[in-house]
Amino acid sequence: MLAFLHLSEKSAASRFTVYRDVMQHDPPTRAVFEEILHDETFHMNYTLTQLARVEPKRQRRHLWRARLSRLWKAYLRVATGLAGILGSMLLTIQYFVLLPPFAWLAKRAARRELSGWTIVSPGASESLDRQY
Ligand SMILES: [Fe+2]
Repeated sequence: MLAFLHLSEKSAASRFTVYRDVMQHDPPTRAVFEEILHDETFHMNYTLTQLARVEPKRQRRHLWRARLSRLWKAYLRVATGLAGILGSMLLTIQYFVLLPPFAWLAKRAARRELSGWTIVSPGASESLDRQY
């Protein structure tokens, strides 16, 4: 948990560094981001210090596991988005390429059918005595 928190605080610190640097033209906003960056840097260092205190020998392993977990979650987000796009494309292609021949065959079969009631010849009614 501390490794995850450290990475989150580190990520936040890097973002607020960018925000601060972008706000060159707006000194009051830049000062707010500078203050938040100071807090985030403190949080980042604090969580790392606590991780080293709690798990002195395995802190690197925890950090790498947290990094890989974040990487895996990012991969899953990208894969989910890609699967959504590919699924939509595949269904669209199926709709416009595979469905029209079946619709054409169904229309052709419907044209061959007689409409309304049909008269059955008297000899053909014996087949209605049994099911098979
Ligand atoms: Fe923070």
